[in-house]
Amino acid sequence: MQSKHSAACAADDVAQTSKSAASRVSKPARHTRSRTLPIWKSAIQQVLKPALRVDRPASSQLFVSNEKIFAAPLHVEDIADCYFYHTVELPGHGVIEGDWDLRRAVDDYLGRVAFAGQRVLEIGPASGFLTFEMEKRGAEVVSVEVTAAHGWDFVPYPHSKLEEVFGPRRVVMQRLKNSYWFSHAARRSKAKVYYGDVYNLPAALGEFDIAVMGAVLLHCRDPLRIVEQCGKMAKSLIIADKFHPDLEGAPICRLAPTPDNFLWHTWWHFSTQFFTQFLAVMGFTTTQTSTHQQYHRGKAHTLFTIVGRRSDEEN
Ligand SMILES: C[S@@+](CC[C@H](N)C(=O)[O-])C[C@H]1O[C@@H](n2cnc3c(N)ncnc32)[C@H](O)[C@@H]1O
Repeated sequence: MQSKHSAACAADDVAQTSKSAASRVSKPARHTRSRTLPIWKSAIQQVLKPALRVDRPASSQLFVSNEKIFAAPLHVEDIADCYFYHTVELPGHGVIEGDWDLRRAVDDYLGRVAFAGQRVLEIGPASGFLTFEMEKRGAEVVSVEVTAAHGWDFVPYPHSKLEEVFGPRRVVMQRLKNSYWFSHAARRSKAKVYYGDVYNLPAALGEFDIAVMGAVLLHCRDPLRIVEQCGKMAKSLIIADKFHPDLEGAPICRLAPTPDNFLWHTWWHFSTQFFTQFLAVMGFTTTQTSTHQQYHRGKAHTLFTIVGRRSDEEN
């Protein structure tokens, strides 16, 4: 099945379309507030001057993205064209088995954070189970997913070895995206997707209350760059990843691939302190670190979830 996604917009595109959007911006509040804002926030607002603004209580006004940056929903008719990473239950389709079943402890996975009225940036939605759960809890969700050009960070094994996975991988990724859009339609979701480079998130995505990085950083060559970017765009961060008790106690990560294990998709095992220390460096206070059991094809695995909040946040 061919993707009908509108690819990520160029910056000029965003600037063009944002002119008309500017007429809908409520200017006075922006000018009065920006003087007291932290530098990171003012910087984003400078870039986003012409972007849309949502009407929210004065205490939580956020700049939101230009709609053009998002992919047009992909119409997926046949569930057979989907690969479900998550087990999901969809209206009219019942339970569809996926690799990971997060249904029993989804609140633990998401750090028991309150999502009502929150604008959420989600990195790597896969089949979108977390997207739609957060939406169900009242969040407005924007997800960032890979493109063909900015795909997974393959671990650089010799090309002759990687060749075996490249072809099938492309098919799996399209089927994964299909599963997201199939669920999106079944749930009548309003969640949005930006397909692009996670290492260069456009400021035009806007500001967020919360950014969620669930089981994605282990797959990325430069996880801290992603945390840094999310930290600039969101007031609170939720990081969930595999728990490795042997690493606990020090702010470390371990390279997962070896010449023999051919772990082409996974770079790192993390300790929780690796992130809590980095969050502290960025000016975030860790408000919670917890572990929980999640199920991969019926087998329990322990994951951790860290919730951090920007310490200098005025709200
Ligand atoms: C293991 S799944 C996790 C899905 C979901 N976040 C969860 O916690 O269950 C990883 C997701 O991150 C995406 N991903 C992997 N590398 C990425 C990258 N460099 N940029 C953006 N997304 C990436 C994958 O395509 C997939 O959607």
